[in-house]
Amino acid sequence: MFRARDTVVVINNLPFNFLREGHRRMSRRTKIYEGKAKILYEGSEPNTIIQYFKDDATAFNAQKKGNISGKGVLNNRISERIFTALDKMNIPNHFIKRINMREQLIKKCEIVPVEVIIRNVAAGSICGRLGIEEGSELPNTLIEFCYKSDEQGDPVIAEEHIYTFGWASPEEMDEIVHYALRVNDFLSGMFAAIGIRLIDFKLEFGRYFDGENEQIILADEISPDGCRLWDIETNEKLDKDRFRRDLGGVEDAYMEVARRLGIKLPDLSELSSEDDK
Ligand SMILES: Nc1ncnc2c1ncn2[C@@H]1O[C@H](COP(=O)(O)OP(=O)(O)OP(=O)(O)O)[C@@H](O)[C@H]1O
Ligand SMILES: [Mg+2]
Repeated sequence: MFRARDTVVVINNLPFNFLREGHRRMSRRTKIYEGKAKILYEGSEPNTIIQYFKDDATAFNAQKKGNISGKGVLNNRISERIFTALDKMNIPNHFIKRINMREQLIKKCEIVPVEVIIRNVAAGSICGRLGIEEGSELPNTLIEFCYKSDEQGDPVIAEEHIYTFGWASPEEMDEIVHYALRVNDFLSGMFAAIGIRLIDFKLEFGRYFDGENEQIILADEISPDGCRLWDIETNEKLDKDRFRRDLGGVEDAYMEVARRLGIKLPDLSELSSEDDK
């Protein structure tokens, strides 16, 4: 009798303990940083990070806040696709592997606090700043730098500021600009092939320390959050400007980019909650 009862208790406890263990294992993961669009956790291997993509969306230095259902899933996949392709083009980057629907394992690096903006066509902030009409083709690819500082609103800076304040060395900036132009050439062609014009985009780079070696690598993400992508035929916007300007169809636009890139996705209506991994 007693034994039978004991057995029942043990069996009943099994799933309970299992779930609790699972929960404990998850919460033991160390959160390094929570940003506007992503959360960083310590990776299982040294020198790695898990990058979790959220559905949260912000614009205008986080004055406008919202949620784009399924965005995290789409950006994880789109960024994976692009970083994998860039790796094949010998552009060193932080991507190691995708872990699940919203997470990818990346190389941990020291981010250079400079956003690199690559512009092929005038759009967004440059238009207001310099009085240029949106959609004007630029005579050459224009690279701008912004200081990565939420407090200061990521201000545009000159290259000289980078050296004056020691954010990166001239040698590092030579490499960064070289990679930025190669990424632009590659992505412009890749998007043109699927009927999309690459108007502009933002890149972040970091220093990756591998034993004795220190290397500049491409980091963060490349997705419709940080790119302007217009349909070649109609000029329809397929990026975060749909959210910034309340144009509607934001989810559909991100989905369309993923679809044209040939990314196969499960039904996103089932994936709107952020606990889907
Ligand atoms: N490989 C990497 N190693 C370390 N940090 C990284 C790496 N890739 C990206 N990051 C940083 O992780 C953070 C990602 O979070 P998110 O994009 O949500 O930040 P954010 O709120 O946009 O803030 P930020 O203005 O710093 O980008 C960014 O600060 C980015 O610079
Ligand atoms: Mg960011």
